[in-house]
Amino acid sequence: MLQLRDSSAPAHLVRRADYTAPAFWIDTVHLTFDLDPAKTRVLNQMTLRRNPDVPAAALRLDGDELNLARVLVNGAGTSFKLDAGQLVLENLPEGNEPFTLEIFTTCTPAKNTKLMGLYVSNDSFFTQCEAEGFRRITYFLDRPDVMAMFTVTLRADKEKYPVLLSNGNLLESATLEDGRHSATWVDPFKKPCYLFALVAGMLVCRQQQVVSRSGKPHLLQVYVRPGDMDKTEHAMQSLIKSVIWDEARFGLALDLERFMIVATSDFNMGAMENKGLNVFNTKYVLANQATATDVDFANIESVVGHEYFHNWTGNRITCRDWFQLSLKEGLTVFRDQEFSMDLCAEASARAVKRIEDVRVLRTVQFPEDAGPMAHPVRPDSYVEINNFYTVTIYEKGAEVVRMMQTLVGRDGFAKGMTLYFARHDGNAVTCDDFAQAVADANPESPLAQQLPQFKRWYSQAGTPHLAVTSHFDAAAQTYTLNFVQSCPVTPGQEAKEPFVIPISLGLLGAASGAAQPLRVQGGCQSVGDSHLFVMSQAQESITFEQVPEEPVPSILRGFSAPVVVDYAYTDAQLLTLLANDPDPFNRWEAGQRLALQSAIKSIASSAIPSSATGLNDAYIAAMRTVLRHPTLDAAFKELVLTLPSETYIADQLEVIDPQRIHAVRERMREQLATALLEDWQWAYTAHCQNGAYQPDTLSSGRRALAGMALGYLCLAARHTADAVWPGKAYQRFKDADNMTDRFNALSALVQSAHPLSTPALARFHSLFQHEELVLDKWFALQAGCTDRAGEVLPAVRQLLKHPNFNLRNPNRARSLIFSYCSANPGAFHRTDAAGYVFWSDHVLELDAINPQVAARLARALDRWKKLAEPYRQAAREALQRVTAKADLSNDVREVVSRALAD
Ligand code: TRP
Ligand code: ZN
Repeated sequence: MLQLRDSSAPAHLVRRADYTAPAFWIDTVHLTFDLDPAKTRVLNQMTLRRNPDVPAAALRLDGDELNLARVLVNGAGTSFKLDAGQLVLENLPEGNEPFTLEIFTTCTPAKNTKLMGLYVSNDSFFTQCEAEGFRRITYFLDRPDVMAMFTVTLRADKEKYPVLLSNGNLLESATLEDGRHSATWVDPFKKPCYLFALVAGMLVCRQQQVVSRSGKPHLLQVYVRPGDMDKTEHAMQSLIKSVIWDEARFGLALDLERFMIVATSDFNMGAMENKGLNVFNTKYVLANQATATDVDFANIESVVGHEYFHNWTGNRITCRDWFQLSLKEGLTVFRDQEFSMDLCAEASARAVKRIEDVRVLRTVQFPEDAGPMAHPVRPDSYVEINNFYTVTIYEKGAEVVRMMQTLVGRDGFAKGMTLYFARHDGNAVTCDDFAQAVADANPESPLAQQLPQFKRWYSQAGTPHLAVTSHFDAAAQTYTLNFVQSCPVTPGQEAKEPFVIPISLGLLGAASGAAQPLRVQGGCQSVGDSHLFVMSQAQESITFEQVPEEPVPSILRGFSAPVVVDYAYTDAQLLTLLANDPDPFNRWEAGQRLALQSAIKSIASSAIPSSATGLNDAYIAAMRTVLRHPTLDAAFKELVLTLPSETYIADQLEVIDPQRIHAVRERMREQLATALLEDWQWAYTAHCQNGAYQPDTLSSGRRALAGMALGYLCLAARHTADAVWPGKAYQRFKDADNMTDRFNALSALVQSAHPLSTPALARFHSLFQHEELVLDKWFALQAGCTDRAGEVLPAVRQLLKHPNFNLRNPNRARSLIFSYCSANPGAFHRTDAAGYVFWSDHVLELDAINPQVAARLARALDRWKKLAEPYRQAAREALQRVTAKADLSNDVREVVSRALAD
């Protein structure tokens, strides 16, 4: 048998401009697996034909870590060579007739720690093929524009692997000799190989029949390990809701007789949309009230929705090449966001969801867009595609789709989707094709009229800034807003052209706070009290007429475009918006701006943080008003009362001193704790009882606010030496009937470094020592502790030695190492550089196990150039230590070399 090494060709840049259609098409594939952890045999029988539209060329099949045993063309031996991991066949039949190709290989799932291709997790087999994992299973044209009909036969030991699953419908199953059995699955749709999946193992399933609008029955199944059946109900309900929603909102029905979800605890990402056989990280499937928090429940609903919605946006219509990734991901994130919003019973809950989504965009994507890994929503090049599953592709991509909906209206957008499917169903297409379909379905819309310019959102990286000034002409009673847009330089993009920016606007009376009726100069009379201004030039202005007094502008309502708005708001104006804006997003935003302005002032001042001014009385009073407000709901209050994160504050500054930011924010938290003491007591008491547990938005909001109150009460107790609230928190921790309340109480004790946190942590561990997902929370809480930040690193080092720690399990690695390096800036950025040394050690250690996970960790130092000394120099040295390693993966090498590039 021929032994092959990995495809260890030197890293090379893949360019979007180099796209060419494949030289061959693969029409059908029959895969036969003899599953064995140590040596799995894979027989791959394909029919291929030359692509008549491109010049004749050799067939180059991708492969990675495969052992090749045999190659037959039309049943006979053939010559072939191996070149940089590819199997190259030059002497194939001439002409356009189909021919068969049979390839026999073996691989070693038990040793597959990268979790790409076929691997073993908890004694079951799983596959992960997106983006380029299929080549680790067999030689193939591993690119999304090659779509084939798949038939899959699985053979395995019947006792160890009673369940054998693959995409599509079960054609037959049989018992074999030697205690083995087999199953053959046929997928009725052609698909790119990245959507292939198989699962084999000891699994149980919850199943339910649903009937679609057309009257067709479908079988929905959720497969988990036998002990986890009691945590599958919520995922099943989420799946049912997803099926109903996609049919109701977009007319997209389930196209399969059977739709399966399988959970695995070893997974690089959240979940994967394999046709009819979604594979999920257990974190996004398993939940019951004892083990999962409200946030977990909400995440499961949205990830189940996301993967299900891919069945149309991703699977029925897929990507021509990986540069088009946002075609499916941006659109599908948009769809899952809309799904979660549409499921909200109350309008305020929709707004809460929108705020949460924007918060992620601004705290994670904006920094990405301003750092060394900045890339357009449709990138122009990459070294390792796995590094481009980013918040830019996903979240900013979703914002681009949302702007399209804003520009054509909700009904217009639905029409656009219909046209998109009418044109492209069954094909592999581009971001341009999508935008064109939405525009063509709405020819009168501003989108259609400015499509080429709108598409700059796909081609230009960087977050646009919108500088806004205003002018009130008392004599003429006009109010003018002037907008100037600009976009910072990003790697490889020096000059930027203006974007099309939809700006949703309103005006409030400065004294009354009342919404003002809007009359746009030169436009048709009144437009109500909200107006969509579509900016497309570098500079533009809009004038409102019959404005009796200088108003307060409410700019970019609902966050109608992914931009930074710079307007010199006074505190008084922001307080007016916070108290009165009918747009809940801008109401929240006003509170964030107020806190941000105070934080920035304190950071800039020379005062030591403990005596810095911090939050002013007006802000505290406004927060009290929000907290005690009779009609605002609890979830919204919790968002308003959450201070901007250290990362978001850092992103506003030219030079980052992480310790100063941390100290200032901690000081602000203390102020909120003590100044609102009685209000927090009231808030806790008023929101802590919520009846029988339900993870709905209303009661989750109440639990979130009660949890926040308890956190502040424990913090305040530290300064007043009060033992009552920590005692109550401990009691709550012990008595809670759900994980949300229990975990909030535990965090309140840990985050205030109360002595009771020691027995609480121990008790929590012993209660949940057999619940992997809960142990992840236990690790993450300790690594993410922001109090006594200097003590976190020693604690993390200790936890690395804990018997429950396992670096090979991505969830566990993330819970301890990422929580420390990427989510706890006050503890990570140490003046003694020990945090960075820890980081470099673990990037290297992880890289040898799982390069994808290592490359995510590597991104923790993305923004090192903005750091103040001594951090900057220490970070550079840590990065250099990583690049100095000889056999680094392409994944990590790309991230660190971009970070170090000038
Ligand atoms: N397509 C998946 C999604 O729904 C992303 C994904 C899951 C993925 N697993 C992966 C991407 C592994 C790369 C590698 O978003
Ligand atoms: Zn996705």
